[in-house]
Amino acid sequence: MEYMPVRIIIGAQWGDEGKGKIVDRLSAESSYVVRYQGGANAGHTLKFDDKTIVLHLIPSGMFNGNAKCVIGNGVVIDPIALVEEIEEVKTLDVDLKDRLYISSSAHVILPYHKVLDQVKEKSRGKDAIGTTGRGIGPAYVSKVSRVGIRMSDLLNEELLEHKVQSNLSDINNALEHVYGHNHLDAKKMIADLKPVIEAIKPFICNTTELLHDALENGESVLLEGAQGSLLDVDHGTYPYVTSSSPTAGGACTGSGIPPTAITHSLGITKAYCTRVGNGPFPTELDDSAGEKLRKNGQEFGATTGRPRRCGWLDLVALKYAVRLNGMNELALTKLDVLDDFKEISVCTHYELDGKRTDIFPLDSHEVEKLKPVYKTFPGWLQSTRDISDFNNLPEKAREYIKFVEDFIGVSFTIVSTGPKRSETIIR
Ligand code: IMP
Repeated sequence: MEYMPVRIIIGAQWGDEGKGKIVDRLSAESSYVVRYQGGANAGHTLKFDDKTIVLHLIPSGMFNGNAKCVIGNGVVIDPIALVEEIEEVKTLDVDLKDRLYISSSAHVILPYHKVLDQVKEKSRGKDAIGTTGRGIGPAYVSKVSRVGIRMSDLLNEELLEHKVQSNLSDINNALEHVYGHNHLDAKKMIADLKPVIEAIKPFICNTTELLHDALENGESVLLEGAQGSLLDVDHGTYPYVTSSSPTAGGACTGSGIPPTAITHSLGITKAYCTRVGNGPFPTELDDSAGEKLRKNGQEFGATTGRPRRCGWLDLVALKYAVRLNGMNELALTKLDVLDDFKEISVCTHYELDGKRTDIFPLDSHEVEKLKPVYKTFPGWLQSTRDISDFNNLPEKAREYIKFVEDFIGVSFTIVSTGPKRSETIIR
């Protein structure tokens, strides 16, 4: 079967690459936009018509065109956070009827997942992961250990009560006896959820079938990843990762779309690197250049407000992400953040135990020991904001981009030079 464009949008770093803006921009030409993993740990910031909105669960295709927006089975949904977001979207005059679809198989984050996330993180002490505390890890634990509650269970009060009661008997035991936390009350939890369930009921459906029909009808689909490749539970810097699969395979399992339907894998990378939370970060800068990247790029978490760790672009890590996801297109974001740097560096390889390596190690202990080796470029020292034609970029910026493309072997089809829709070069 010939498919229309079915494009996965994947973060090529540790998240926060600006995927939301790119999804918003491309959604006008798509019939469906599908979130496939993660939960309200993500924060996708969109700026348009002088408005700024941060989405955590609803796909970023809601405001540009009329794409049907799907929260796929691979997402873990905090129903309370979702209803807050639905209300916020409504204030922007968006009618969600026939626009929002929530998979009946997606798992639910319950208040006990958030409590567990926080007490477990606290008990890790110096080995803390730096989670967003949104209950993501424990919700995926429930899913994989087959005691999870799915969106469809919210529609059956008796079953829901039975499952919550049975889960809580186990969890309360741990909370009281291991973590010294108060026990949680199932009846109160369910009563608190009732109005929320009523609000989301109309959106719950079989999104797998919806998407299969869409593919057969030749509709175009955007699959929106959250977090980034280096936070992937299998391929990232384990254990300093999130608990889902932001990489390309996760797009298939998290939506029900078959791998043979995927036509494009679009990787999003910033012109530098950031990481929020703990874990190794080879090109991290602890100096004034790092501080300047944070200030220029407004690098503070969209979900938690935490300052992001900043460093130079890591081409070894980027190449790893490209190979991992079969990325055949790249988007470069936040180029403008580098506008006033006299010198700009990119990491071309590492030294590990005194020897050169061109490979991103799979073991976090080894990643921790890497010494990045840089190639340095003269900065362009002029504003790139508002430039929408690639040829109008300063020559030195074009040279920098060309070097990265030649190194990675994939072209940048999109270059973003500011947060607004208009500040985008499509090549
Ligand atoms: P969790 O996903 O909340 O369990 O957090 C695990 C790790 O992933 C932490 O280092 C978080 O800071 C990081 N993380 C989770 N979501 C995001 C995101 O959307 N952007 C960047 N980092 C994230």
